[in-house]
Amino acid sequence: MKKLCLNFLASIVIISMNAQDIQLLPPDKTGGKPFMETLWARKSYRDFSSEKLPLQQLSNLLWAANGVNRQDGRRTAPSARNMQEIDIYVFTSDAIYLYEAPSHVLKLVKAGDARKMSARNDFAHTAPLVLVYVANRDKMPGMDETAATLYGATDCGNVTQNVHLFCASEGLHTVSLGNIDREQIKKLLGFHGEALLAQPVGKGKQQNENPLLGHRWKLIELNGKAFPEQENKKEIFIFLNEDGTMNGNLGCNNVSGTYVLKEGNRIAFPGLVQTKMACLNKDVMNTETELSKVLNLTDSYLIENNVLVLHRARMSPLAKFVKVE
Ligand SMILES: Cc1cc2nc3c(=O)[nH]c(=O)nc-3n(C[C@H](O)[C@H](O)[C@H](O)COP(=O)(O)O)c2cc1C
Repeated sequence: MKKLCLNFLASIVIISMNAQDIQLLPPDKTGGKPFMETLWARKSYRDFSSEKLPLQQLSNLLWAANGVNRQDGRRTAPSARNMQEIDIYVFTSDAIYLYEAPSHVLKLVKAGDARKMSARNDFAHTAPLVLVYVANRDKMPGMDETAATLYGATDCGNVTQNVHLFCASEGLHTVSLGNIDREQIKKLLGFHGEALLAQPVGKGKQQNENPLLGHRWKLIELNGKAFPEQENKKEIFIFLNEDGTMNGNLGCNNVSGTYVLKEGNRIAFPGLVQTKMACLNKDVMNTETELSKVLNLTDSYLIENNVLVLHRARMSPLAKFVKVE
């Protein structure tokens, strides 16, 4: 586990050495849905496409969240005693940034994709950005613990609602998430204060996106043999994430790795790895070995009526899976 974490941290450093500060564009003063329509549209969503937001929309979003809207430096979100203590960290696939409202700049904090550390819910990790709100104690001088906690949480709520309304107006998806690892985030970013909430933002998963991705596919046939529902047996499935990774269960052991999609429904699963539990049941073990071979052989797929069929060289089906979620 420790090794995994170290590898993950190392990859954050290596992946993106090119990230730098981003000067945001001046926010639009017009546009958006009428206010009452926006309120009618506001709701939480938990599905995100990984498509990045255009710079103008990103600029508008951060300004709407907690940007400067007056000459005296006050913000779009109210804050107790005008402390303006809510810092917004923006986790993207390239880096983590801190939003500096007065200069309307995203200051680079750390290069690399750390979205997995921003929130515990998996659905947040594919969003092009996750906003993480921190009550910055340096901006709350002399405040007792109770007041600091109360005001920090309230002011954070004001910012999240601005983001909710902006998203509702723009047709973007978002949800407030309290399910975050506050200690881990604090260790990662090293601020003086508390991480309060995370809020992924992005387009929703489009209906026309590849139907193969983002679903759980349960095995129903392997090398021509039907694979009947069996009680007390682990479900054998594969799940392909939008980011090119896959995971699943082969009956006893877990499988994970990457997949490569090419035009014409071609697919490959290079470099899959399996856990190495000994499985006592021989049938389970045989299925596992067979399915593992099938995944290695597969070079194309078809989806019809919620059934995914894996093929090699368009010959008879190697395996069939049904969509379960
Ligand atoms: C402070 C706060 C924390 C929340 N934490 C989570 C969370 O960890 N996971 C989640 O899926 N939704 C979370 N939500 C979203 C709520 O579940 C959601 O707002 C509620 O069900 C009402 O639905 P609506 O936003 O569509 O009106 C949170 C909302 C708030 C305000």
